[in-house]
Amino acid sequence: MTGRALLKVLGGETLKTPPVWLMRQAGRYLPEYRAVRAQQPDFIAFCLSPEAAAEVTLQPIRRYGFDASIVFADILLIPHAMGQKVWFEKGEGPRLAPMSLEALAALGPQGAADRLSPVCETLKRVRAGLPDSCTLIGFAGAPWTVATYMIEGGGSKDRWKARTAAWSEPETFDRLLANLADATADYLIAQAKAGADVLKIFESWAEGLPAPLFNRVVIAPTRRIVERLRAAGITAPVIGFPKGAGPHYVRYAGETGIDAIATDHGLDTEWAVANLPRSMPVQGQLDPAVLKAGGEALKSEVSRLLDAWRGRPYVFNLGHGINPDVPPEHVSELLALIRGQ
Ligand code: CP3
Repeated sequence: MTGRALLKVLGGETLKTPPVWLMRQAGRYLPEYRAVRAQQPDFIAFCLSPEAAAEVTLQPIRRYGFDASIVFADILLIPHAMGQKVWFEKGEGPRLAPMSLEALAALGPQGAADRLSPVCETLKRVRAGLPDSCTLIGFAGAPWTVATYMIEGGGSKDRWKARTAAWSEPETFDRLLANLADATADYLIAQAKAGADVLKIFESWAEGLPAPLFNRVVIAPTRRIVERLRAAGITAPVIGFPKGAGPHYVRYAGETGIDAIATDHGLDTEWAVANLPRSMPVQGQLDPAVLKAGGEALKSEVSRLLDAWRGRPYVFNLGHGINPDVPPEHVSELLALIRGQ
């Protein structure tokens, strides 16, 4: 384990050169990803093919030498494994079969993690192909975010149906969240046992929730997952990413039991430096559009973030995933800037 910069920082150490990895570092901006993906048009089947998934997970590590590798999978594998049909329309993103809230809440957590055992096989293969200095990250979506996709039948502008359901049918809604939390905890436990050194929980839709709802649908189910991990003896650090949570970031950091917090690019950096717990490792928050822009903008944003977080345990990353139109050479520029080469 020695020499893994990301694990050191997640353990609270401050490094002169922060470790760096990027959300969606395996993806469509890489020609070698597109070549492998072209062979399997069914995205869920692709995620559940250990050979192909391990290959695309390793591609960005070979090309750039990131400090961490994140297993290639998707947050929507959980609804798939629990029994809701999930598919991807080309250019339109995810689609989920329409189901009533009552029917969704009746999907139990039992067996879901077992159905995702190919992801654990991918983790084992990736670990075998990684340099020892590279940390392996496993992940899952947080219950609220996954529930929004299940209820809306895909992505949505303001999660209107999901928010309405959370207020109008709290008992059924909370049953769905509890089932998702339990399936997700089992899945993350299996990922840690298969070799994930770090676990990340993606709460991509933490934005726009009033405090009582944030407590109920974001904090409580996330805490349930972390408690179950710890009760199962899993010691891997957990990174929480409540994208768009704004001022709720502080309570999320303090009350969910996570070990490190990932910040989005909309969160004010000075506010975050002043208000997030000083000892908690922080990851983020370069605007993905700056990576697309490159050049002077990239240079100045990288130095702004490095300066702001100097002296704190900090992991360099974007505030959200890489866009497919980012030129691959901008990622090399970014790494050179961070590593001072
Ligand atoms: O490299 C990595 O970061 C690991 C792989 C990864 C993917 N999805 C692969 C993927 C991770 C960590 C995710 C997480 C994920 N998936 C999230 C949380 C992070 C975020 O972006 O907020 C969400 C909300 C999803 C759901 C999802 N999957 C959407 C909305 C889409 C379509 C959007 C798009 O970019 O087309 C996906 C598909 C998806 N997941 C792709 C990849 C590389 C693109 C699929 C393709 O090859 O066509």
